[in-house]
Amino acid sequence: MTSFSTNIKSILTRRLVFVVGLIMLVTLASSACAVQESNTYPVEIFSEMHYSQSFRMQEPPRLAPPADSVVFKSAGDSSQTYNVPDKQERAYDPAVAGNLYRVNCSVCHGVSGLGDGKAVRHITSSSSFYATNEGTPYKAPPNLVDSAANRLNQREVMFSFISGWNGPVMPEFGKLLTEEDIRDIVNYIFDDTTGLSQ
Ligand code: HEC
Repeated sequence: MTSFSTNIKSILTRRLVFVVGLIMLVTLASSACAVQESNTYPVEIFSEMHYSQSFRMQEPPRLAPPADSVVFKSAGDSSQTYNVPDKQERAYDPAVAGNLYRVNCSVCHGVSGLGDGKAVRHITSSSSFYATNEGTPYKAPPNLVDSAANRLNQREVMFSFISGWNGPVMPEFGKLLTEEDIRDIVNYIFDDTTGLSQ
């Protein structure tokens, strides 16, 4: 019985040595294949193509810009750019708050807040992300003038909606803007003299 088990042990040990040796041989052989050399000039074939700069298989698909977008050439004339000074230096100013709104919200909700921004066709089209993943295109961003008058007619409620998680499309602005900037934007939406609700 003892000699039988010793026998088995030695067979197993020999097998193990053989398998380890085989693995080492295969590893050596495969690493040698990565570099191939011809007679005079070494020709190196880099087998792992995905590391190559020109091999783009692993890049995500790109979203084409809207057909009527304008090529950015330079920062240009400062009177043409949105100027938003630091909050400490200002009280609510519809001109500044309007710039904040136009920079952050108008692409979806539209310059006048009617829910007709440039990005709407990407959100609601039948080939949008939502249509391909969930079967139906996403509904258009709401009209904010109407929202301030009816659905979210409390500034505090609208502020909370904008700051927190608010659905799969709209960004969570509490992570992107300061509280003061979001309050400025809300004031601009409710502003009935010079803001969106005029
Ligand atoms: C990427 C597009 C996008 C941007 C940018 C965006 N929104 Fe929205 N917004 C939406 C969508 C879509 C909804 C509808 C929410 C839902 O059901 O998912 C919405 C809903 C809202 C609502 C709720 C209105 C209602 O009555 O239901 C408010 C208020 C609002 N957005 C304000 C803003 C403000 C202010 C900004 C800028 C700081 C902004 N949004 C930026 C897409 C956007």
